[in-house]
Amino acid sequence: MNIATPLPRLENLLPPDQDHEHRQLLDGLLQPQACINPKYFYDDRGCELFTRICQLDEYYPTRTEAAIFEQCADEISAALTGHAQWIDLGCGDCSKSRRWLEHITPARLIGVDIAGDFLQACLADIADGHPELECVGVVSDFTRRLDLRRLLAEDPDSPPVFFYPGSSIGNFARTDALRLLRGIRRHCGEHGQLLIGVDLVKPSHILEAAYDDAEGVTAAFNLNVLEVVNQLLPADFDPTAFRHQAVYDPRNCRIEMRLVANSPQTVRLGSTAVRQFQRGEHILTEYSHKYTTTGFSTLLAEAGFARQQLWTDPRHWFGVFLAEPQA
Ligand code: AVI
Repeated sequence: MNIATPLPRLENLLPPDQDHEHRQLLDGLLQPQACINPKYFYDDRGCELFTRICQLDEYYPTRTEAAIFEQCADEISAALTGHAQWIDLGCGDCSKSRRWLEHITPARLIGVDIAGDFLQACLADIADGHPELECVGVVSDFTRRLDLRRLLAEDPDSPPVFFYPGSSIGNFARTDALRLLRGIRRHCGEHGQLLIGVDLVKPSHILEAAYDDAEGVTAAFNLNVLEVVNQLLPADFDPTAFRHQAVYDPRNCRIEMRLVANSPQTVRLGSTAVRQFQRGEHILTEYSHKYTTTGFSTLLAEAGFARQQLWTDPRHWFGVFLAEPQA
């Protein structure tokens, strides 16, 4: 990187008080059906394991979406608004946005993620190769509340294009997915757009293999969340006393990831709480919803996106929607 290049601006929109988060984590673990929010998967080790998941033979979503982006890049680029404010929600290392910069020329790139230092370093690298592009990092848990209006108003001549790839929308319950999509819609005004990747319904054996790979990477990813909770609360979970399970629920069209207790156990949670687990009892760690193309199109319409275009792969395993408010 060129030492003279100033670092991209970083806006921190995280609430200063993290106690509330800890209380929610504790409440989830003390419910009759214990649960841990999947956002806790992503500490350094979790991010590393997730990168490996994305490369697994069984985990088709990443490569299927990438193939759609590559094969349909010209058509999708032609449908995208030029000179936009490109907002990458949950951008990670920004690698997916970086690929789009070979096809489109937005005026600004706003990367939104929870890990600030990493985000700034990744954006600095992009800014270095694209001196004409204004790069801004936003540290935010946008899954709780999305409010980027002040930032977007700084460039009123460029409509926003929200980019939400990877089927991360599938990790929300339907009502929460709708709430997030409505939040995005509110930012779009008349001319904004949403480019979003969605994993589609398919036979359960393919889905269950994608979430329970032969090498055990997904199992390690799931069990690692107990280490994260041990650090955060703190708690004294023994990850070796639990096992990974991934089950497809066809009624709700979703994979449920669970951590099942191998034996009865008592776990200390924070300084005062204790939770007993019976043998076979499980902690719910993630839902990964799968949609039909019609089902997701209906959800987008309910959120206020009347105009939609869809690209998919030959097997119809994954869908990329470009959604806009005006029909
Ligand atoms: C991030 N998210 C879209 C992944 C998914 O497929 O639901 C998370 C994941 N969990 C296990 N494998 C991948």
